[in-house]
Amino acid sequence: MKIDLVNKPLAEIETSALVLTVFEDEKDRNIYCFDDKLNSRLNKLIGCGELTGKFKEVTMIHTDGFMAERVLIMGLGKRCDFSLERLMAVSAVAARNIRRVNLDEMTVVGDLNLLEISGEDCCRAITEGITLGLYKFKKYTKSQQKDYRAISQLSIAIIGKVISDEMVHAALNGEILGESTNLARDLVNAPANILTPVTFAEHAARIAQENNLGIKILERDEIEAEQMNAILAVNAGSVEPPRVVVLEYNGGFKEGKVLGLVGKGITFDSGGLSLKSRDSMFRMHCDMAGAAAVLGAMQCIARNRLPINVVAVMPLTENLVDAHSYKVGDVVSTREGKTVEILNTDAEGRLILADALSYIRSYRNIDYLVDIATLTGAIVTSLGHFCTGAMTNDQEFFNQVEKAGQISCEKIWQLPLFDDYMAQIQSDIADYENTGGSPAGSITAAIFLKQFVGNVPWVHLDIAGTAWMDESTMTYMKNPFLPKEGGTGAGTRLLYHLAKILSEN
Ligand code: BES
Ligand code: MG
Ligand code: ZN
Repeated sequence: MKIDLVNKPLAEIETSALVLTVFEDEKDRNIYCFDDKLNSRLNKLIGCGELTGKFKEVTMIHTDGFMAERVLIMGLGKRCDFSLERLMAVSAVAARNIRRVNLDEMTVVGDLNLLEISGEDCCRAITEGITLGLYKFKKYTKSQQKDYRAISQLSIAIIGKVISDEMVHAALNGEILGESTNLARDLVNAPANILTPVTFAEHAARIAQENNLGIKILERDEIEAEQMNAILAVNAGSVEPPRVVVLEYNGGFKEGKVLGLVGKGITFDSGGLSLKSRDSMFRMHCDMAGAAAVLGAMQCIARNRLPINVVAVMPLTENLVDAHSYKVGDVVSTREGKTVEILNTDAEGRLILADALSYIRSYRNIDYLVDIATLTGAIVTSLGHFCTGAMTNDQEFFNQVEKAGQISCEKIWQLPLFDDYMAQIQSDIADYENTGGSPAGSITAAIFLKQFVGNVPWVHLDIAGTAWMDESTMTYMKNPFLPKEGGTGAGTRLLYHLAKILSEN
């Protein structure tokens, strides 16, 4: 998308669609009287109740005779409810409407006096909302998919401030954030026969090459040499070999702080011998959404050249059924040396993460650690689909992750990790059991992971409820920059903003 910023009187802007925003409770102030003819038309629409300014309302008017062929008036809702998230949402809805009528060019008005936000925030929210809102997953149909129509030219008309380099930069930044999230969405949406551990690693290699990231791809023999037996146990029932992808970005000082990211990469979760039901197995190709979020975040961090060092580890395998599958009752010796009694082969995520968390800490000195995973169905019961579950061993670090959540409009909610929960994963014959039963299932999963992070400040993000949306989750109703159906890219923008926050401290 070509992005231009302009400082021009609205009446002089030549565009196929000029997008204006109005607050529900300030309609008079909002309507731009750049021509008598248009203004009276808008007043008429307000008078008859057709234009209310309600959040996400769209009013498209053909101007005939103006420089702008159409004016799109987007409702922002009440001023007191305004947020950057709403500006993103409204930008997304506007772009979809432009695409719906087969246009590929638009001008969005960013009136800083009206919105009362900085020019940077305004530009970022507009480009980020549009890039996320226009996302479509390409289908695998025999006949070519209908032309993918995108917006090829976006102008942002800034009112109230002179355009600065920072605003231009922020506009590009928003697009990069959107594109990196869309990368994660593409990976999550790809079916399991197409996106295997091997092909995921190939995608990672491509991203690494494009962005100058260090990359190491561990194959089976190296995974064996590292004694990542928990990953190997989960992989035992698969024909597809496992991979562990390590990415490195060194944008900070040599001796500077290092952020470690670990993402769960189960490219298909059948449950293993503790087989899932047919309904709950559906869509389990999304079980690598944590790894996808990490890859998206690494691309975003690198493309924005954040001054920080980041190491990412993505353990990748399927969890399938076969004569070689790991079994219920097995005792597996993890890379850390701690042993695990397998009570349920469907609790495979924590096993591969245990080895990855242990590996990343010995690979490099890690100052902050985040893991992200579609880990438990229990988090869906607790928090539903609107927010990600978060758990930590370090409240101060958690607060920074929470801040990243607020900036990225990715909601997270903390659950406690009291030591008492340890009782639930105590085993008679090994160091731990791999499940703690159904009470507090998300917490006991995190308590298990905590045994593998040492003393490093760590936050665990459970995205089982937020990584995938469909009609039943109702999120689309609230959030037009989320897809109606499919992978959301949850975590990519949050992890980017976390890296940014850490780079500024
Ligand atoms: N991949 C699932 C979790 C999941 C559930 C992701 C729903 C996305 C949507 C995970 O591997 C799993 O199966 N967890 C079990 C753990 C249990 C056996 C302790 C679960 O949640 O039932
Ligand atoms: Mg499972
Ligand atoms: Zn899983």
